[in-house]
Amino acid sequence: MSIARQLANLGYGTRRETERLLATRRVTSADGAVLRDGDRVGHDVIRVDGAPLDPAPGSVILLHKPVGYVCSTSDRPPLVYDLLPPRFPLRDPVMATVGRLDADTSGLLLLTDDGALNHLLTSPKSHVPKTYVATLGDPLRGDEGERFASGALLLHGEKTPLLPAQLQPLGEREAAVTISEGRYHQVRRMFAAMGNHVITLRRTALAALELGSLAEGQWRVLDANETSALVNTARDAKRKRP
Ligand code: URA
Repeated sequence: MSIARQLANLGYGTRRETERLLATRRVTSADGAVLRDGDRVGHDVIRVDGAPLDPAPGSVILLHKPVGYVCSTSDRPPLVYDLLPPRFPLRDPVMATVGRLDADTSGLLLLTDDGALNHLLTSPKSHVPKTYVATLGDPLRGDEGERFASGALLLHGEKTPLLPAQLQPLGEREAAVTISEGRYHQVRRMFAAMGNHVITLRRTALAALELGSLAEGQWRVLDANETSALVNTARDAKRKRP
């Protein structure tokens, strides 16, 4: 693919604008040689104004989403895209969030421009485990773990019970919950079904991925091993469930 097109697909401008970047000698290789549109060079060696390119097509981004940010390209700001390079929403294919976290929820959020992977992780048939830490308005009653694990818990207004979920108490008013589906406001509604209410909610893990020491508002690109482990977990989790 021509360099101008690669850059346009990454959101560096329209095709005309990226051709202009090349014509004005702002596109170089890592060693500083000025590149021409027809040069056959890979994503890794291309620089624009001396800077490496945004993540390559097919990348997966792990963002530590702060409270207050919305998972949308067009809602009222602040948007999660405000934390990322301004080119991300302009990419083709677009760098989309993998599912959503509520504005009031913080934590691990993935984004990718790989539509097939996004679908694998978010379709209703996807049962990739996701762990949330909730702080609660009232003390835990003691039976939440059993009720969540039962596979019989019905959320208000729903006809199908939740799949079994795991609860680990972390304190009198704090617990980690691991779920393997993604219903609307699921964790908040699970605690509401127990007569409690969630004060803060943070997603700490998705499959084998964890937030680790990534600060709020920061992001990183998954490496090839992390991405293939994620794909394998998603495929396995899909196979195991009806
Ligand atoms: N459960 C919720 O209640 N909110 C989220 O954002 C994710 C899971």
